[in-house]
Amino acid sequence: MPSETCLSAKEIFEKSQEVIPGGVNSPVRACCGLGITPPIIARGEGDTITDVEGNTFIDYCMSWGALLHGHAHPEIVSRAQAQVARGSTFGIPTAIEEKLARKMVEEVAGLEQVRFVSSGTEATMSAIRLARGHTGRSLFIKFEGNYHGHADMGETITLPYNDVEAFRSAMSDEVAGVIVEPIAGNMGVVPGAQEFLEVLREETKRVGAVLIFDEVISGFRSQFGASQEVADLSCFGKIVGGGFPAAAFGGKREIMQKLAPVGKVFQAGTLSGNPVAMEAGLAALELASLPGFYEELKRKGEIITKPVREAMRGGCLQEAVGMFTLFFGPEKVERFEKLDHERFGEYFRFMWERGIYVSPSPYEASFISMAHTDAHLEKTRDTMLEFLCG
Ligand SMILES: Cc1ncc(COP(=O)(O)O)c(C=O)c1O
Repeated sequence: MPSETCLSAKEIFEKSQEVIPGGVNSPVRACCGLGITPPIIARGEGDTITDVEGNTFIDYCMSWGALLHGHAHPEIVSRAQAQVARGSTFGIPTAIEEKLARKMVEEVAGLEQVRFVSSGTEATMSAIRLARGHTGRSLFIKFEGNYHGHADMGETITLPYNDVEAFRSAMSDEVAGVIVEPIAGNMGVVPGAQEFLEVLREETKRVGAVLIFDEVISGFRSQFGASQEVADLSCFGKIVGGGFPAAAFGGKREIMQKLAPVGKVFQAGTLSGNPVAMEAGLAALELASLPGFYEELKRKGEIITKPVREAMRGGCLQEAVGMFTLFFGPEKVERFEKLDHERFGEYFRFMWERGIYVSPSPYEASFISMAHTDAHLEKTRDTMLEFLCG
């Protein structure tokens, strides 16, 4: 029997704060500054979540983009359940790890080898460690507004995103590597300009530094595959675990072969390549590789994004396939911008009170899954238009 509760969300949240810092296991879940008690979720199905009090919400958080197929997709559930019944973890190789690795290597151009880990943070941390081991240098360049997990990145320079000149002048042969989100999702959705990404490639090549694309959000989100072709290493997470804790980093064989046990860069994990997560991840990628999948995801997204973009005043809507952000304040966002938190709070509460859960931060993306029904997308669109146009 699953554990049942008859406590209210407020009671559970208060009790949680006694034993968990802030009552949450990841800060943004606390919905700070939004004037609500965060929902305590009891279950999810398709595009809908239900809290412990029986309230339902159309969900656009989708576990921060991990759920490309919505909650409790039957195929993913049954493959994961079957694996749980065979054993949930061994710490010894299983055949499913090779299958998921091969699917990724076959589908992502330029990805020659991958290693699985358990979170996006672990993927970026390990890729950075590998780049340092490969080059024998320590300095890293990253970009403001990009998020690469919470690990301490050591010696780094932070530059403005999409700023070619700032990047060129910071680049030198002391740089071990450059890490970037090719489609940024952590300052709202801000696609990297083509010229910017090309210059990152040229300059890293020129000084012998490693270019890392952090595709923890963007991998398999907007297309089947990722932007790996031009990077040396890429990080994946979220979608590749099918809703379970799995992530990966991978790239050029020459660099990946520096990892232990073949090479000298040590990297390891008790639950790495966990078979339940691998089964779920493979099921998720197989579903996403069906013909027309991303065209349909794009069509679904545009039910909301086209009309809302046109109605937006005092801000803008930016998107990639399967994800979008309403920015309150700037008319266009190319790099990290301070946003209007008060207006965002009004927007969030307006949606929430009408049974729609958008990602609870002005700097985050909202995610469309294949499980979002047209009726729910239309309801969301109409509610956003009502908020924007009154
Ligand atoms: C681009 C990017 N990289 C890394 C991470 C860290 O992943 P995780 O939260 O699984 O540790 C995230 C998390 O949202 C992310 O968006």
